[in-house]
Amino acid sequence: MSITLPTQSTMLTSDFIFGVATASFQIEGATQIDNRLPSIWDTFCATPGKVKGADNGDIACDHYHLWEQDIHLIKDLGVDAYRLSIAWPRVMDKNGEANQAGLNFYRQLLKKLKAEGLTVFVTLYHWDLPQHLEDKGGWLNRETAYRFKDYADLVTQELAEWVDSWATFNEPFCAAILGYELGIHAPGLSKPEYGRQAAHHILLAHGLALPVIRKNAPASQVGIVLNMNRSYAASEKAEDQFACLMRDTLDNQFFIEPLMTGQYPQILKTVAPHYLPMILPGDMDIISQPIDFLGMNFYTCNHNAYDADQLFKSVPNAAPVEYTDIGWEIAPHAFTELLITLNKQYSLPPMYITENGAACADHIIDGEINDDQRVRYLEGHLNAVHQAIEEGVDIRGYFAWSLMDNFEWAEGYSKRFGLTYVDYQTQERTIKRSGHAYRALLNSRKP
Ligand code: FCB
Repeated sequence: MSITLPTQSTMLTSDFIFGVATASFQIEGATQIDNRLPSIWDTFCATPGKVKGADNGDIACDHYHLWEQDIHLIKDLGVDAYRLSIAWPRVMDKNGEANQAGLNFYRQLLKKLKAEGLTVFVTLYHWDLPQHLEDKGGWLNRETAYRFKDYADLVTQELAEWVDSWATFNEPFCAAILGYELGIHAPGLSKPEYGRQAAHHILLAHGLALPVIRKNAPASQVGIVLNMNRSYAASEKAEDQFACLMRDTLDNQFFIEPLMTGQYPQILKTVAPHYLPMILPGDMDIISQPIDFLGMNFYTCNHNAYDADQLFKSVPNAAPVEYTDIGWEIAPHAFTELLITLNKQYSLPPMYITENGAACADHIIDGEINDDQRVRYLEGHLNAVHQAIEEGVDIRGYFAWSLMDNFEWAEGYSKRFGLTYVDYQTQERTIKRSGHAYRALLNSRKP
């Protein structure tokens, strides 16, 4: 089973980069080592009923110790680039001072990645907020945005030498809305007003950090990573069309519009004013400063029907469609449509697909993992990216989620997204059929 792209695709030229992605809390483990502070995800995992199987990040993929062998794995997959995140609680103490032991971990990792010729994408915040900041209100407290700026300052001063691309945040939607509005991610709070205020402070933090990162890392590009699902209406009925508009507004436009144009979606003023955060003078200018790239994470689409209380509710696709093991519809056409639509709506900077992948119920049999659904998923979505590029969207790279199976947030270790299988008992890694197919595609490129 292979992954193919049209032979004339510009994705197969040296201008386009292929990579794999991970995030600190999902792979590192070693949560108690080298004075790492607790994060909101440690607390959330320790709260009964929050994470499937009461799983936690204590060991995860033990990448903190196995990082050298994991770099060999990355090389083995034949990719050009690696996207990772830094754990804030590892590198900064409660007083805002550097934790050199934590920084040394990243220093040696990044040095080695560069020595191996990889392009390095680093995300500063992939959801592991230090718990002591949550204790003071977390992202509901405007001060946290200023603490993030200090953290970004420290990390870029210390590590800029080995980083090609900095992203401030991964998926503000998930950090703010899943964490503070829906309560299904850390810190597990749930009020509509909370989610939007947290989102505003995250976007503010992004904007406050930008000039600092630019100063410390003039040779790197700086941007942010958003996640988006394409929204569809459950029917032609006007009320379902409205539901779809609200879903897209609250999940997608609420995040990209302030970054690109300096305002939140104006429709909320009349339809759902309680979803508008408190904004101080100057905030929107800080948030909408130019960025060098926009990262986009895409997995699925959703279908929406009107709901008087919530404005919309998710309904299953009426058509027979295929789902992954996490229950997400496989919809590569939605990916192309989303990218083309955004490109028409906004004047976008260059884009990278910073995550895309599938959860499958993988089993290792005689040393092999035949994850055919993932191979098909990757082929479909890579071709969707190709199509969007053909239609004029400026996309410069694609990162598969993920390098290896890891801690899948509220799903614990029950969902496997890796191109590499991880045996959590032995920490043995085995490249899946999808990983071999991805490598074969990359190797087929002309030098
Ligand atoms: C994204 C997250 C990533 C991973 C994938 C499956 O929302 O950024 O950490 O969990 O989903």
